Amino acid sequence: MGSDNWEDLTSNTRQNRRNKKKNRSRKPTLEEKEDTEFYEKQSEKFLQDLEPKSGRYSWMKEDRHKRMFRDIESKLQGVVGKGSYDWVDRRVFDQVFDRLTLMSLYKLMKTGVIDTLDFPIARGKEAHVFHATDLDGKVVAVKIFHTSNAVFKNLVQYIEGDRRFSGLKRRHRDLVDIWVRKEHSNLTRLSLWGLNVPKPLGLHKNVLVMEYLGDEESPSPKLREVKVDDPGPVYDELLEFLAVTWQKAKLAHGDFSPFNILWHDGGPTVIDVGQAVIETHPKAQEFLVRDVTRLVEWAEKQGLEVDLASAMYEVLNMNLDHVVKSEIIAEED
Ligand SMILES: Nc1ncnc2c1ncn2[C@@H]1O[C@H](COP(=O)(O)OP(=O)(O)O)[C@@H](O)[C@H]1O
Ligand SMILES: [Mg+2]
Repeated sequence: MGSDNWEDLTSNTRQNRRNKKKNRSRKPTLEEKEDTEFYEKQSEKFLQDLEPKSGRYSWMKEDRHKRMFRDIESKLQGVVGKGSYDWVDRRVFDQVFDRLTLMSLYKLMKTGVIDTLDFPIARGKEAHVFHATDLDGKVVAVKIFHTSNAVFKNLVQYIEGDRRFSGLKRRHRDLVDIWVRKEHSNLTRLSLWGLNVPKPLGLHKNVLVMEYLGDEESPSPKLREVKVDDPGPVYDELLEFLAVTWQKAKLAHGDFSPFNILWHDGGPTVIDVGQAVIETHPKAQEFLVRDVTRLVEWAEKQGLEVDLASAMYEVLNMNLDHVVKSEIIAEED
C-alpha cells in the first residue's frame, strides 16, 4: 500500500495545492492567552493546596470535588477490584490523574464544561474515556490522554507535517496537548460538514470533552461487535463519510476501522479522529487508501460485493453537491 497504489487508484491531480501555504510561526490565540492567565491565577492556589503542610489535596475536599472523588471511588470499585479506592497512590491515579491533569479537570469544572467525573468507560491506546456529566446533568464523554512518555512516541509522525500544528515546541507534554487540540479541531471540522462524529464540547490541555455515545448502562458498541441486519446502506453511509471527509473537510481519518466506529442510535458514528491529517500531509494519501481498504474489508465480511478500485473512485469522485458546511455545530435536539 502506498504511492503506487495511490497512482493506480486516482486520476486527479492534487499536487498544485502543495506549495500554496507556508509554515508561519504562530502567535498564541486569544483563547490560549486566556488559558495562560487563568493558569497563572489558579496554579498558585492550586499548588498551595497540594503542599503537604497546608493539607494535601485539600481542594478535593471542596464539596463538588469531594462528591466527584467519592463518585469515582464508588463507581470504580467494579473496575479495579473491591474495597475503597485509594486515589492518591494507586496506578490508575498515577497513570491518568497527574497533577496537571487534575488542574485541567479543575478548570473544566470551574468553567462549567463538566460537573462530575463519574467512572471510566473505556481504556484506549493512549487515553482513558470517562463517563461524566455537564451542569445540566447531561452525560458527556471525557477523554483523558495519558502523559507518560512511551505512549506518545508514535504520535509524533502525525503532528509533524501538519502545518496547522507546526512551530510549536516539541516538549513531550506539549505534544500531548497538541494531540488533543488536533483531535478537537478535527472533530469540529468534521461536525461542521455534518458528519456523524461526537460533537466536541470542550478541551483543556490533555483533556477532551465530547458528546457521549451510549445509554445509561454502557457506551455504544463498536461496529466490530455488532451484527448489522442490512449492511448495504451502512456501507454507503460510511463510503460517503470518507468522501465528505476527503473532498470537503480535506482530511484523511487515518485509523478508520470497525473498532473506531460506534453503533449508535441505529447507525454508525465515527470516533478517534486525533490522527486524522490534512490532505497535504505526506501520508494523507496512504491513510486514505488504508481507510477505504478497511471499509471494503468490513463490507466483504458482511457479504457485500464491493471492490477497492470502485470504492476509491467513489470516495474521490462522488458527487457531493448536497453537502454544505454549517457555520456552527448544530445543537442536540
Ligand atoms: N464519545 C464517546 N462516547 C462513548 N464512548 C466513547 C466515546 N469516545 C470513545 N469512547 C470509547 O472509548 C474507547 C477509546 O476511545 P478512542 O477515541 O478510540 O481512543 P484511542 O485513541 O485510545 O483508541 C472507544 O473504543 C469507545 O469504546
Ligand atoms: Mg480507538
